[in-house]
Amino acid sequence: MPKVIATVAELRQALAPLRAGRVGMVPTMGALHDGHLSLVRAAKAVSGTVVVSIFVNPTQFAPHEDFDAYPRTLDADLAKLGDVDFVFAPSVREMYPEGYATTITVGGPSSGLETDFRPHFFAGVATVVGKLLIAALPDAAIFGEKDYQQLLVVRRLARDLGLPTEIVGAAIVREQDGLALSSRNAYLSAEERKVASRMNLVLKDTIAIARDGGLRAAEGAGVAALKAAGFDSVDYVAIRDAATLAAIETLDRPARVLAAARIGRTRLIDNMAL
Ligand code: PAF
Repeated sequence: MPKVIATVAELRQALAPLRAGRVGMVPTMGALHDGHLSLVRAAKAVSGTVVVSIFVNPTQFAPHEDFDAYPRTLDADLAKLGDVDFVFAPSVREMYPEGYATTITVGGPSSGLETDFRPHFFAGVATVVGKLLIAALPDAAIFGEKDYQQLLVVRRLARDLGLPTEIVGAAIVREQDGLALSSRNAYLSAEERKVASRMNLVLKDTIAIARDGGLRAAEGAGVAALKAAGFDSVDYVAIRDAATLAAIETLDRPARVLAAARIGRTRLIDNMAL
């Protein structure tokens, strides 16, 4: 079982004698699934010591979002992390001390997409990830490509703040029917689960249309297809520059199609490389 650590001071003390080897970190909000475990494997592949953080970060949820309902399953999570060295599971007060007044705002890849629908989100993520990386000072930190915009935001953050951490992206893990693994899939009813499995197929079709015709037409077709598949509303289907998420007019560079849509009370995101 991993050693569970609740304070930044204890974490630094535990890691100090281990720094001659590489330290890898996997920041999570818990409710661990196979997608997270693939991030842990990626961390192990590049580091001698692995720290998984488990912290449901209040600053990345808007008041109307699912902070209170977000699954908290620490005992089950620890059982899945048998061969991890440390789990850093701080309290909210440890991460946000009394009078807390500092927020990290990242420009560049934060603009548009998720920010158009969750304007608070990336400041919350950047602030907590910045704090986690400063607390652990890992050599590498692993983030899933499932949250592709988040991965680019974290990469920008680490470069801009000069953090000594390599940000490593890990491929999306999917169910057999292609649904990207997400802790929020647990919210889906059986009927909604069937609708959810259509999202990855719509992304594949969107890519095929983009290769044959215009990118805007492909995005429009993607939105229509998600609605036809049974999603209640579609926030976006967008084809962007894979490195910057800037808008592009033609497929003359590596690109990514990204989508966000809602079924019932659940909001799902997914993306694929073109
Ligand atoms: O992707 C997540 O689980 C969270 O956004 C992260 C990176 C752990 C920050 O709270």
